[in-house]
Amino acid sequence: MKPEVICLMMSSLDGGLHPSKWTESPDGGRKEWTALYQKAHEELQGDAWIVGRVTMAEMAKGKPHPPQSAGAVERPHRFADRKAGSYAIALDTSGKLHFTQPDIDGDHIVVILGNSVPDRHLAELAADGISYIVSPSAEIDLAAALDVLGKELGIRKLLLEGGAAINGAFFAAGLIDEFHLLVAPALDGSGGQPVVTFEGGLAGRTQLSLLSAETKDNGAVALRYKVHTRRG
Ligand SMILES: NC(=O)c1ccc[n+]([C@@H]2O[C@H](COP(=O)([O-])OP(=O)(O)OC[C@H]3O[C@@H](n4cnc5c(N)ncnc54)[C@H](OP(=O)(O)O)[C@@H]3O)[C@@H](O)[C@H]2O)c1
Repeated sequence: MKPEVICLMMSSLDGGLHPSKWTESPDGGRKEWTALYQKAHEELQGDAWIVGRVTMAEMAKGKPHPPQSAGAVERPHRFADRKAGSYAIALDTSGKLHFTQPDIDGDHIVVILGNSVPDRHLAELAADGISYIVSPSAEIDLAAALDVLGKELGIRKLLLEGGAAINGAFFAAGLIDEFHLLVAPALDGSGGQPVVTFEGGLAGRTQLSLLSAETKDNGAVALRYKVHTRRG
């Protein structure tokens, strides 16, 4: 069964995604806004969180280290831990990510890949104690991957935590149930990437309706939307 997907993002008023580049406010700064995002993440009580390859690369800083003798490599998936309290999931189509441990702050790592990923990379993940799912196609089939996560790992609530490319792909595929945006009283001003990007845009594909708007600490605002996918 497909998990419920909640997209959780934090942005400046002009859609910037990097608190390190934002203006400060008398109400707070990077440290406070990062803490607010972390608190929102914890309050949602997801079974797992998922990010794109670029975002995961900020946390996974390993170098390639395929094992000398790989032996048989399991496809289409291998689960090193089916009873983890929480999962950290990365979409890494061609296997560019390398890890130094099987978890991120205690959350067991699962990597989702395209089917052109070489065996030596899967062998490296297996030797590192990391779980993986190989899509049936060269590009990752997001809906199929979510089904596997629900069926094999019992994931019921998945927090989609960016970046913009992954968010756009999930929106376009009609897989997001709710969009939660924390807006900080800050400006980026550098014309950087917005919260969601998708080639050709999302007009005609997606509709949002407001569930709640709440003021938070440090001058931030929390907006929650129900996501509707337009069909036909
Ligand atoms: N403010 C926030 O709330 C927040 C949250 C998360 C991240 N961020 C920031 O966002 C930035 C990264 O965002 P990003 O948009 O550049 O990258 P991203 O979404 O983190 O990763 C994009 C990459 O994921 C891979 N991918 C796999 N399947 C995909 C699919 N179906 N559609 C698109 N990509 C797919 C591709 O890797 P390949 O290129 O290898 O094929 C793609 O380049 C980071 O700097 C991070 O700090 C901010």
